[in-house]
Amino acid sequence: MQQTHIITLIPGDGIGPEVTDAVVRILEATGVQFTWERFAAGAGAFEKHKEYIPKELYHSIERNKVALKGPVTTPVGGGFASINVTLRKKFELYANFRPIKNLPGLETRYPDVDLIIIRENTEGLYVGLEHEVVPGVIESLKVMTEKGCTRIAKFAFAYAKQHGRRKIHAIHKANIMKMSDGLFLRCAREVGKKYPEITYAEHIIDNTCMQLVMNPYQYDTLVMENLYGDIVSDLCAAFVGGLGLVPGANLGDEAAIFEAVHGSAPDIAGKDIANPTALLQSAILMLRHIGESAAADRVQTALEKTYAAKKSLTRDVGGTAGTRAFADAVIQALEEGR
Ligand code: NAI
Repeated sequence: MQQTHIITLIPGDGIGPEVTDAVVRILEATGVQFTWERFAAGAGAFEKHKEYIPKELYHSIERNKVALKGPVTTPVGGGFASINVTLRKKFELYANFRPIKNLPGLETRYPDVDLIIIRENTEGLYVGLEHEVVPGVIESLKVMTEKGCTRIAKFAFAYAKQHGRRKIHAIHKANIMKMSDGLFLRCAREVGKKYPEITYAEHIIDNTCMQLVMNPYQYDTLVMENLYGDIVSDLCAAFVGGLGLVPGANLGDEAAIFEAVHGSAPDIAGKDIANPTALLQSAILMLRHIGESAAADRVQTALEKTYAAKKSLTRDVGGTAGTRAFADAVIQALEEGR
């Protein structure tokens, strides 16, 4: 009998439940056996359990080591801490891996983009240490550690070597944050010495944004601290068709949470128009992670066929189909590929 994969599932809120539902249906159509442990998080969870992250959710990830997650809304300028950041810190998911690649048949601002963004996921300004020094003066602390900077650099170089990538750029602002970003660069240089076959370079973050828009092809793999990685990911998503497409994986030594780069998109929630491709591509990363590479290849082929056919695409990429209809088309392509 086929083994079942027990996966923690966090549908999230906003467009989260819609895109998660679409992706779960596609995954189940592969024939791979899944048992989903489903949990609410954020404001929805608080209403039911009086906890933003229920204890059972933590325990489920501890047991299963793998989660598939939809976006969760974070209140702006107050309220509870980001569920996403809390989970990444709790499970030490220090590497946020975000591949930026075109899908066939989809006309975008740039063709043939193939970038890897590796974002440090547990430190920097996201440690959430803010306080009022005196009325009218706030300090927000950026915390960088040698351990954190070294392990993300190791992740980036090891990934590049394993996947035949030729170049790594460390992105920084060490001209201003001489100590924190300076440490990041020192660690990256040190790790880089062990990988002479990979070209290593350093670019300042503001220049990087301009260079990326002028000519994204000059980059291959970019490694950077938390906030820069957050911003650069959205920027690069625009090259290949937008946030509806770009996947992500939060990876640590013990656990992994797969989620799209995008957020809960309240502007389009509940309308059956969100594009589930970003979460689907995150789920493809998950399939590879759990050893289901053949199923991952089949879903990738079905997804590419759906895009190449230019039918049943969602509005964000120029189509007219809804979330569910798009998922149906991918499932049909999967079945035709059997
Ligand atoms: P967002 O990523 O939710 O939306 C930005 C724009 O992209 C919107 O116009 C939205 O309609 C569009 N978009 C996003 N995903 C799409 C999809 N799958 N298909 C079609 N269009 C899509 O960013 P925003 O509005 O800044 O954040 C909304 C909320 O999400 C905030 O509370 C934020 O904190 C949270 N958030 C959560 C994340 C997570 O759970 N990992 C990540 C990023 C933001």
